[in-house]
Amino acid sequence: MSNSIEKKNNVIKVHFAGESIWMPLNRPLNVSGTEIVDNVQIDSVISSSAPDYDAYTIYMTRKCNYSCSYCFVNRNARDSIVTVAELIDFIESRGKKKIQVRFFGGEPLLKLEDIKKWVCELEGLKECGYSVSYSIVTNASLLNAEVIDYLYSMKFIVILSHELNDILQQNNRLASEKLQIKAKQNMQYLAKTKLVYRSTIRCMLGPNSEVTILDRFQYAVNDLGISGVQFDIPHVDIKSEHRFTSDTIDELKKQIEEVTKFYLQKLEKRDYRYLGLYNIDNLLKIWILREKYIDYDTCGFGINHFAIDVDGTIYPCQNFAGTEEFEIGNVHLGLNGKEFETDIEKHNVCRLCSARELCTKRCYSSNYIGTGDIYIPNNTQCEMKREFITAAIYILYKLRQNEALFDDYCAMLKAKNRFLR
Ligand SMILES: C[S@@+](CC[C@H](N)C(=O)[O-])C[C@H]1O[C@@H](n2cnc3c(N)ncnc32)[C@H](O)[C@@H]1O
Ligand code: SF4
Ligand code: SF4
Repeated sequence: MSNSIEKKNNVIKVHFAGESIWMPLNRPLNVSGTEIVDNVQIDSVISSSAPDYDAYTIYMTRKCNYSCSYCFVNRNARDSIVTVAELIDFIESRGKKKIQVRFFGGEPLLKLEDIKKWVCELEGLKECGYSVSYSIVTNASLLNAEVIDYLYSMKFIVILSHELNDILQQNNRLASEKLQIKAKQNMQYLAKTKLVYRSTIRCMLGPNSEVTILDRFQYAVNDLGISGVQFDIPHVDIKSEHRFTSDTIDELKKQIEEVTKFYLQKLEKRDYRYLGLYNIDNLLKIWILREKYIDYDTCGFGINHFAIDVDGTIYPCQNFAGTEEFEIGNVHLGLNGKEFETDIEKHNVCRLCSARELCTKRCYSSNYIGTGDIYIPNNTQCEMKREFITAAIYILYKLRQNEALFDDYCAMLKAKNRFLR
């Protein structure tokens, strides 16, 4: 029997690695190996209040020292002409006091000195009652001891992009050999610093690769010394060599089962060197640690997330930068009033999906690039997400069979709260 997920009367039923498991949506921790036949009532799971924070993704530059084969960024363009004063004006016009700023690109560390200046100015907001936090997405090639110290001192969350395999890295994330070696050494160095607790590697999976997810996870932990890893599929169109087909997605699902069993074994042995498989931990975190029992959010798309391109144009997401129909304003003039429907009840496919209450961060960019419509899900992304949801329910069920083990896992999740974002 192949792995599956279905829903009846608000009870999720999954089949994974030979086990049938039921999870009532009102109490996800009450997973059971016997059928739950009750009609489970769940309140509206959509939060009625607007998010209390705003997030900004800033293109510091569109230039890059890499040339990745799946990259969506138009890297011919220039450095940002936006000033931090303009950003601060926009932040103040929004009225939210909790702010997250993510430095993006191109390669944002090409503009390290500007980042430092921006952070210095943004810190000033704290005197006016703002809370401000920072993150950066980087290919790691320009990290060094001084940069790492700086990022740690300003409490940055760091997303490191890597293929977690030397050959795939060389083939897909094109750069000089010198830069590749540097990036790997920099990550190994970072792994020995306290910044590692705030760092996660984002790894793109590809079809037709003999390198499995487990191989890549082991590379992260054993070769780099970093266990925080998030796997994703690149958002690419139908013609791309990186596009998954039904055959290759089936292979990917097998790999997800393999890495899940490995992860469970490590948790059972309390070998927490491996703790950090984001695609699973993040779901368990939502079910275990959050007050809200299920995550029904979108990604903040123009509601509380704004991406600011190098010329100051605002988009709901960085992946749409340069696409005119998604312009929602300009940092100099403010928002233009254009909004997108983010209520899941209006999305015909997601509305009827068995995993809709458990699916986090439905991605409009993946949909748009994959299907041409932000509201029509990209099937391969959905297949991967549903498989990880199924896998996470399996891990939860197995952990719940040993309360001491489950308690230890919860304690570790809380202690290593680098994953809680
Ligand atoms: C565009 S890069 C910019 C920051 C930096 N240069 C880096 O690579 O981390 C940001 C992230 O987008 C990812 N990315 C690139 N192309 C993508 C695609 N087609 N779909 C999804 N993610 C992609 C990269 O792997 C990286 O993690
Ligand atoms: S390093 Fe980042 S911005 Fe540069 S080409 Fe690769 S994914 Fe794109
Ligand atoms: S994005 Fe895909 S997996 Fe998630 S709710 Fe929509 S259809 Fe389901």
